[in-house]
Amino acid sequence: MKIAIIGAGNVGASIASLLLSKQMCDNIALIDINSNLAKAKAIDLSQMAIALSQSAKVVGGDDYKLLENFDIVIITAGVARKDGQSRSELAKINANIVVDASKKIAKFAPNSTIIVVTNPLDIMVYVAYKSSGFNKSKIIGMAGELDSARLKFSLQNYLGKDMKDSKSCVIGMHNDSMICLSSENLNSNEFENIKSQTINGGALIVKLMNTSAFYAPAAGVINICQALIYGNSKPLSCSVLDDNLVAFSRLVKLDKNGVKELLELNLEQKDREILDKSIDEFIININNLNLNGF
Ligand code: APR
Repeated sequence: MKIAIIGAGNVGASIASLLLSKQMCDNIALIDINSNLAKAKAIDLSQMAIALSQSAKVVGGDDYKLLENFDIVIITAGVARKDGQSRSELAKINANIVVDASKKIAKFAPNSTIIVVTNPLDIMVYVAYKSSGFNKSKIIGMAGELDSARLKFSLQNYLGKDMKDSKSCVIGMHNDSMICLSSENLNSNEFENIKSQTINGGALIVKLMNTSAFYAPAAGVINICQALIYGNSKPLSCSVLDDNLVAFSRLVKLDKNGVKELLELNLEQKDREILDKSIDEFIININNLNLNGF
């Protein structure tokens, strides 16, 4: 199994480290616009593999030829939102990066499955689909797995019981309109509190350390890779495109060919209305990007 990661920053390097420690692949390629960063982390990770007595090979650089014929390509390349920058400005900048990466992935690894991490996530899933020309079942966005972990973390802290196997999950868009589905018995005040903690889970980390989270996002990607590599009947919350070419997280089943099945959304009326509104916003955002001009 050959897995490439575009963007050798915090999330990209954490994914590589987990892939190695879980012995999930034989080859890793790290690609970054900052070639030396990718090379340096590839050397560090190669030495990590040797220290762990593993034979996986890690290479790094800025040349997409490094991912020729790879099986899975993960896009984490992007810039973080700066103070005062609007989401649509960020979307334009990161869309340029994701378009460029997706076109090169299509050229060098035409049979790969793409996992998208770059934000704004659901929009970038669409951008990767449009610019790679891949079948929509081969484009998977990682957000729901992260948001679900944040929901379970808030529930665990509040209820004081182990939540790792809970069926509670987050679906919908990876923004303030995400939909929390809790399997716990909470009153409406308790639920709103947990939901707010979940939505603000990423912002809290940024406030504390001035950079965004990377360990839990990397773990979300690992869940998706595991399902793609080994096949997995367990539903995962992933941002995938539906027949209307709208992307948001929903429970899906994956196998080695990508998205195998979208599970039915059984939403309460109020959640359906939130989702419908965010779908309208998604379409406006996509149109504003004017992807035909890329
Ligand atoms: N091509 C390749 N790599 C790029 C490009 C590009 N055009 N533009 C930026 N990069 C690289 C940067 O050089 C950097 O090493 O992407 C990497 C991003 O790493 P970090 O800044 O550490 O960001 P990280 O915390 O890893 O988050 C990655 O995930 O949460 C999302 O959208 C968010 O941009 C963020 C992404």
